[in-house]
Amino acid sequence: MGTWFPKVYDAAMKPLEEISFKKIRIDLVKKAEGRVLEIGSGTGINFPYYKNALRVDAIEPNPSMSKRAEERLRSAQVPIQVHESCAESLPFADDTFDTVVATLVFCTIPEPMKALAEIRRVSKPGARLLFFEHVRMEPVLLSKTQDLLNPLWEKICDGCQLNRDTLDLIKKSGIEVAKVEEYYAKLFLYIEGKNGTIERKSHDE
Ligand SMILES: C[S@@+](CC[C@H](N)C(=O)[O-])C[C@H]1O[C@@H](n2cnc3c(N)ncnc32)[C@H](O)[C@@H]1O
Repeated sequence: MGTWFPKVYDAAMKPLEEISFKKIRIDLVKKAEGRVLEIGSGTGINFPYYKNALRVDAIEPNPSMSKRAEERLRSAQVPIQVHESCAESLPFADDTFDTVVATLVFCTIPEPMKALAEIRRVSKPGARLLFFEHVRMEPVLLSKTQDLLNPLWEKICDGCQLNRDTLDLIKKSGIEVAKVEEYYAKLFLYIEGKNGTIERKSHDE
């Protein structure tokens, strides 16, 4: 987990944020209600946009990222607590959250299916699951280009997988996908889903 990436992240993202991401984030985050979990909150770029949440628990494994979130944390309009933790092993009880927010993070999580199963576990049945992610592109020429660039890209961008098909993983996880909005020739997707009922078996007794 790098320390130089957090230093450049906000500056590198600024042009895209100004052109389009800021509006996408505002629209996504305003749908987050009740008890909210944010996955991989990074520099806290979403924190100023929470207005309808009761409280937010944000998880972020890289302390150098969280350090850069401190000012946004102080000026947030709802209570937000950042936990140093990974999405693959969430420090929360089953059925805790009404909404989960994940933006530009599933590209970087080393075990995305494990993380999605954890999100489903800690979300209430019917919870709203909101994603904004870059994904593997559909045209073969473009996806093959992503494959070619990926070894260098992941080195530069702290493990980010340029060619990951996150929408497919979300569907395979059992999350019920209700809405998909496409940006930049489907490189970026807004994905809105719902946590279906999870079959839980107790082997106690
Ligand atoms: C590209 S940044 C995105 C930050 C922020 N969510 C945003 O929208 O700008 C990816 C973030 O995922 C975090 N991350 C990496 N591995 C993770 C994991 N296993 N679980 C949760 N977050 C992780 C990184 O530390 C980093 O802050």
